[in-house]
Amino acid sequence: MSHTAASLRAQFPLLAATPELHYLDSAATAQIHRTVLDAVLHHETTSRANVLRGTYRLAEAADLAYEQARQTAARFLNAGSADEIVFTSGATAALNLVSHAFGATLQPGDRVLISVAEHHSNFVPWQMLRDRCGIELTLIPVSADGRLDLERLADLMGSRCRFIAVTQCSNVTGAWTDVAAIVAAAREAGARVLLDGAQAVQHGPQDVQALGGDFYAFSGHKCFGPGGVGVLWGRAEALTQMPPFLGGGGMIAEVTPEASTWAAPPQRFEAGTPPIAQAVGLAAALEWMMTLDWTVIRAREDALCKRLIEGLARIPSLHLLGPQNGERAPIVSFDIPGLHPHDICQVLDAQSLALRGGHHCAQPLLAAFGVEACTRASIALYNDEADIEALLGGLDCARRELS
Ligand code: ALA
Repeated sequence: MSHTAASLRAQFPLLAATPELHYLDSAATAQIHRTVLDAVLHHETTSRANVLRGTYRLAEAADLAYEQARQTAARFLNAGSADEIVFTSGATAALNLVSHAFGATLQPGDRVLISVAEHHSNFVPWQMLRDRCGIELTLIPVSADGRLDLERLADLMGSRCRFIAVTQCSNVTGAWTDVAAIVAAAREAGARVLLDGAQAVQHGPQDVQALGGDFYAFSGHKCFGPGGVGVLWGRAEALTQMPPFLGGGGMIAEVTPEASTWAAPPQRFEAGTPPIAQAVGLAAALEWMMTLDWTVIRAREDALCKRLIEGLARIPSLHLLGPQNGERAPIVSFDIPGLHPHDICQVLDAQSLALRGGHHCAQPLLAAFGVEACTRASIALYNDEADIEALLGGLDCARRELS
């Protein structure tokens, strides 16, 4: 199978229809693959019914498709079993689920560690838990280049650390987290670890058993699948120990007028009608991703990222937020003093360059860098040299127009 950017780009209907578009915002939403649209259309036109409720053949077909999607997600993550996969509406819902359900097992004074580099979706739910339940919330700082600074990890954990929730890869800087060091420290302290994999999954299948945490969250729309669906992986014994978050149909063992008892995971955490067709579409995206040679794709993504960083370094006064080199994902954010990112993005848009400007839902991280907003280019498997050269040319133009 060909892995050139052109052959991959041709498989994405929106990109195929807009050859002039330089799409450099895949960290916000990746484009949707053709096979996903086909799978959703097929499901909706042959197997549409609610799941885990009907006994007629159409409902059984829907059950089968939905549970096969769960198995695919388990293979993509190398989970211990499909029962460790909970479908949610996205990574944010998965993170809120854990903050509520695991949070219900915590006592006032127990400590939760997150980092300054978290997306708001892995920041705000824990602040809300602190305000509801009196836990202590402690922040892992970042170094000057945006990597999690683990030097004082043991001190930060203290004697009552029960949970560490960190990003696997920053949505602003592209910095990868040293997951092994965090997992080792957490194991020693008897604390659980959650990884926010929202930015990692776009760069290849993950191995949650090798990573070693207890929970892993990601969204479908960031890995070439549909919006409105995400995955929470939880180690079986970790899921079993948690009470439900949302109550409703499908998550109970029995309901009497007085009280209810809970189904086993994963159904315990899937109250109401789940995102069925979206899960089927997500499974199609994950199946496709599992056919790709990620060594080839990552090498191209890294080369494009390097070329972009070299080009940006030639822009006077530009400040790169994040690692200059080393292990990093191809997410590149920068600040050009005097030029607002929204203005930069508008000038770039006029040249068919799609980038995100703003605080990227990571205000504490931007505050640590001393900026309120920045411009971000994020590179995915369908990008090529022409996208990078167009961006560097577009920035020259933005500087001329806006200065
Ligand atoms: N989390 C997405 C981003 O970083 C929306 O842009």
